[in-house]
Amino acid sequence: MGPRDGLQNQSESVPTPVKRELISRLVASGLRRIEVTSFVSPRWIPQLADADDLAASLPRPAGVIFSALVPNERGYQRLRAAGGVAVVATFISASESHNRKNLNCSVADQIERMRPVFERAVAEGIPVRTYVSTVCGCPYEGEVDLGAGVSLARTLADLGASEISLGDTIGVGHPAQVRALVDAVSSEVPLAKIALHLHDTYGRALTNVQAGYEAGVRCFDASVGGLGGCPYAPGASGNVATEDVVALFERAGVATGVDLDVLVDTASWLEAQVLRRELPGRVYRAERGRKRREGS
Ligand code: HMG
Ligand code: MG
Repeated sequence: MGPRDGLQNQSESVPTPVKRELISRLVASGLRRIEVTSFVSPRWIPQLADADDLAASLPRPAGVIFSALVPNERGYQRLRAAGGVAVVATFISASESHNRKNLNCSVADQIERMRPVFERAVAEGIPVRTYVSTVCGCPYEGEVDLGAGVSLARTLADLGASEISLGDTIGVGHPAQVRALVDAVSSEVPLAKIALHLHDTYGRALTNVQAGYEAGVRCFDASVGGLGGCPYAPGASGNVATEDVVALFERAGVATGVDLDVLVDTASWLEAQVLRRELPGRVYRAERGRKRREGS
């Protein structure tokens, strides 16, 4: 999620060639699914206004799948015209207020906006992943009923979603809640189609990844260095850091196919040369410190 969720919430816009380098570094780490940008309104997310140029100029490494966010049919047309992106990622919220702030329409209207995107994508053989945001809590409404996420997940699966990513947009979820959510959604949608998208605002994202794994989820969205946040969810901080997830699984004997050193170097490069501030990720800071002490 680094190039998309990670960069959409930065105060500065990162130049297109630097975004391309970030994506190339993530590819070199062994990651095989990377969300590269958003085809949303440039007025709403100016940081990703270069989506068309970026997508058109991406490298095309074999076996790597790029996705990009699409809010409506206009976004889908842009994605298809630019090329380079194989998976469409649509989004909607489990809570009415966040949906209105983020997409300027009701949940019901967003389903209608998504419908032609699904129809066209399914007809053209393009997989559609979908985010259901605010499943663990809403920045405007507080508690969100578990049933809201479950019922949206079912609707989206019926529309043809290839994967449904349950988003704890503001990081308020806790392990028992994540387990209950996965159990409930998986009674409506096959477990293999469920992903978790966990922000780390309250420091529980990695614990929630573990809970999701124990509940049977095998796909976790993460962002290099722990960058990210939704500009329309006040106070939301970054996604769980990709290095932290990789380090957790590798230490537990679950192979990820990702080279932790390359990710750590990527986060260090972002810190030192791109954003010029320390990032939230824990593992890259620990490893960077270790490397400095060892002089490597
Ligand atoms: P609107 O203002 O209601 O749209 O925004 P509109 O249809 O009335 O159009 C207004 C203007 O936007 C028009 O331009 C359209 O052409 C243009 P104008 O005539 O005024 O110059 N427009 C577009 N331009 C480019 N690409 C498009 C597009 N669509 C319309 N696709 C809209 C509705 C959906 C466009 C807007 O609300 C929007 O772009 N929202 C995106 C917000 C966003 O990207 N938020 C962050 C991502 S979500 C997230 O981070 C959560 C997630 O990570 C999961 C989680 O953490 O839970 C996914
Ligand atoms: Mg997010």
